[in-house]
Amino acid sequence: MDYKKIVAEEIQKLVPEHLTYDQVYQLLEVPKYTEHGDVAFPAFALAKALRKAPQAIAGDLAAQLNHPYIEKVEAVGPYVNLFLEKAAVTNAVLHEIAAEKQAFGTADIGKGGNVPIDMSSPNIAKPISMGHLRSTVIGNSLANIMKKVGFNPIKINHLGDWGTQFGKLIVAYKLWGNEEKVKAEPINELLTLYVRFHTEAESDDTMNDEARAWFKKLEDGDAEALHLWEWFRSESLQEFMKIYDMLGITFDSFNGEAFYNDKMDEVVELLDKAGILTQDRGATIVDLEKYNLNPALIKKSDGATLYITRDLAAAIYRKRNYDFAMSLYAVGNEQSNHFKQLKAVLKELGYDWAENMHHIPFGLITQGGKKLSTRQGKVILLEEVLNEATELSLKQINEKNPTLEDKEAVAKAVGVGAVVFHDLKNDRLNNFDFDLEEVVQFEGETGPYVQYTNARGLSILRKAAVELDTTEAADLGLDDAYAWEVVKLLNSFPEIIQQAYEKFEPSVIAKYTIHLSQAFNKYYGNTKVLVEDDKRNARLALVQSVATVLQEGLRLLGVQSPEKM
Ligand code: ARG
Repeated sequence: MDYKKIVAEEIQKLVPEHLTYDQVYQLLEVPKYTEHGDVAFPAFALAKALRKAPQAIAGDLAAQLNHPYIEKVEAVGPYVNLFLEKAAVTNAVLHEIAAEKQAFGTADIGKGGNVPIDMSSPNIAKPISMGHLRSTVIGNSLANIMKKVGFNPIKINHLGDWGTQFGKLIVAYKLWGNEEKVKAEPINELLTLYVRFHTEAESDDTMNDEARAWFKKLEDGDAEALHLWEWFRSESLQEFMKIYDMLGITFDSFNGEAFYNDKMDEVVELLDKAGILTQDRGATIVDLEKYNLNPALIKKSDGATLYITRDLAAAIYRKRNYDFAMSLYAVGNEQSNHFKQLKAVLKELGYDWAENMHHIPFGLITQGGKKLSTRQGKVILLEEVLNEATELSLKQINEKNPTLEDKEAVAKAVGVGAVVFHDLKNDRLNNFDFDLEEVVQFEGETGPYVQYTNARGLSILRKAAVELDTTEAADLGLDDAYAWEVVKLLNSFPEIIQQAYEKFEPSVIAKYTIHLSQAFNKYYGNTKVLVEDDKRNARLALVQSVATVLQEGLRLLGVQSPEKM
């Protein structure tokens, strides 16, 4: 229910010559302090047209406003402060949520348009890092949000499965590799080989030449090279899948960098035809000086293609294949320059649709304030983090609710949910520190706290043991201050989703679920929900609505809502 709309209509009716409905709507504010009402209209904007002091205008408007949803109006200085009729608004809001259930907040902004989302995209033969975790959960949540507002998201895992590192890996495997070891612990073993390659290459120059030669062979389709590459890829992918399963995240496509191998010649041709290729010390580049960017390196002197060449091919492929409304890339902040170059080259090719490509950058995860780096072997292994989180939450369940059924499954939903939630509750561009103990707390601004609030709501409803006839339930209107805060938050959920969409920012929803949980827990602490009086059903309808909205909020984040905790 958009009560701002009602207020805007009523005010506009009083000044039809001076302001349009949209102008009034835009001017409305939500006062900081509840004693200033629920909505406020600043009268300054009318002063010139009416040739009157804003204070006087506010007084006039206040005297004339009158609507069943408006309880009282006060002019305070230049402001018209409006207090809504709590019971009436509460009825409307609770009815709406009861009728729409999980669909509450759905919009049709996207009109079904396709939105490929490039997300996760780890590199074959390397551990999936906390950075990839961020990309995975941010991308997944954005997909849910885009779908909620009417787009058709397509989740693409642009695997790092091509590039000179495969030349190095082949050389290392041929020199020191062991099939059994790779099969037993693929990522670990391949990483060890890769690290050993670098150590030995420091004192032996020929190693790098050999690696380049093997990568060239791979690009040219050499059978042995291809066979090894395929094997490394499938072993690695199997390990990645374990993590995706734990997170409950699926993909629509695993077309990674290698997929574009046979689409590269065309890209180079297009660039050539557009007359934007130049040679620089044997390498082929696109100059981007007029964009204030470094040149894009398209081909090395030995003819090998590069990361950006494959991204050019991918962007063009996605446009052709999906005719996208928007194309998103959930990739760390440190690649901002790469995506600027990518868009600039596409613009040089005359592709206006490059405007609809958005890099969704995010900050670093640190530990003890320090950056995590793969090079020094200081990777936090994601699988371990998720397992540890599950154990920590099991410990807390054992303390709080030792007889809970299905404890292991709940612990997993809570542990994994905690990690995901923690990742999403910060503005995505902020760096944040990762401290597992803190992440899995059942109190504080955490995922488990929100999950727990929902489970508590559901347990109240079970105890009440009434079939809520939600079409009538709320008619006894609640009018206490605690309920009112909850109702206003519930009512803002659709707006929150829209903000999250407009900013590509899941944290807007995560923060909202915390606020709603806090408001609900305050309400619950001050109210005897189950007491048998004439407002019992209204209170239960409120509890039901809170649970519905919390579950939907968590779902949009990619976090589960266990029924009992
Ligand atoms: N594999 C890359 C990395 O781990 C991320 C790929 C991001 N997606 C893209 N289309 N470039 O850094």
